[in-house]
Amino acid sequence: MTIPAAQLSATADIDVRGLWAGYDGVRVLNDVAFSIERGETVAIMGRNGAGKSTLAASLFGLEPELGGHIAIKGNDVRGWPTHRISRLGIALVPQGRGVFADLTIDQNLEMASLWSRRLRSRAWTKERVYDEFPRLTERRNFQSGSLSGGERQLLAIARALLTQADIIVLDEPSEGLSPRAIDEVIIGTVGRLRGDGYTLLIAEQNITLALALAKRALVLDHGSIVYDGPSASLVSNEALQREHLGLSG
Ligand SMILES: Nc1ncnc2c1ncn2[C@@H]1O[C@H](COP(=O)(O)OP(=O)(O)OP(=O)(O)O)[C@@H](O)[C@H]1O
Ligand SMILES: [Mg+2]
Repeated sequence: MTIPAAQLSATADIDVRGLWAGYDGVRVLNDVAFSIERGETVAIMGRNGAGKSTLAASLFGLEPELGGHIAIKGNDVRGWPTHRISRLGIALVPQGRGVFADLTIDQNLEMASLWSRRLRSRAWTKERVYDEFPRLTERRNFQSGSLSGGERQLLAIARALLTQADIIVLDEPSEGLSPRAIDEVIIGTVGRLRGDGYTLLIAEQNITLALALAKRALVLDHGSIVYDGPSASLVSNEALQREHLGLSG
């Protein structure tokens, strides 16, 4: 599907229309459409298998069976290779963290900062990461595989920042973390990035946490968006929770 240029949002960081994706001919995203403005934080909710990770991966050119329209900062990126999309300033913190377990924190950060070395101005350097996340400084020579879940998640976020992205997509960052780690790492770090004007898209299954992270939520069910609106209204909408999030009321 081609969208006439006049219909594209000029101010959106992410603009998705008529998106579908599938595996082996079976569709798992159907006619997905939403738009995220610069500086917005949006939660993507939906039960296991709803299509959250597929949607996240679609934005990065990581889904081979794909149709529809995806614009990142006004660029129609469908068909682009992942590295070219990343250079627009969008980074994925994948489900399950995506750090190299055999490398130390420092080596992980070093690798993440490699390609941006050539840029004249860089908002994030390894030194800034160590300044702002002392937790990583203390453990800089530890193998990443030996870190706690919260520390690994922090490292994964730091890696995304080192690419100099200002749109960050986090796929279930709180999964498997203790309440304390969720508070410190997820709510703390996301809150800071939100305050600094980053555009954030966060897949999150927990409704209370989604509300703490984002004012706006999208709900995916069987690959379709069934809700796009204030997260606060979701909390009181027991029928929607039961039907689309699988929560008993
Ligand atoms: N590589 C794959 N090959 C075939 N089917 C897949 C593949 N990845 C995902 N699927 C299917 O696509 C659907 C959506 O999966 P997806 O991982 O996007 O959901 P999700 O909302 O991220 O779930 P979760 O909360 O468990 O992470 C599911 O039915 C899943 O089984
Ligand atoms: Mg997922």
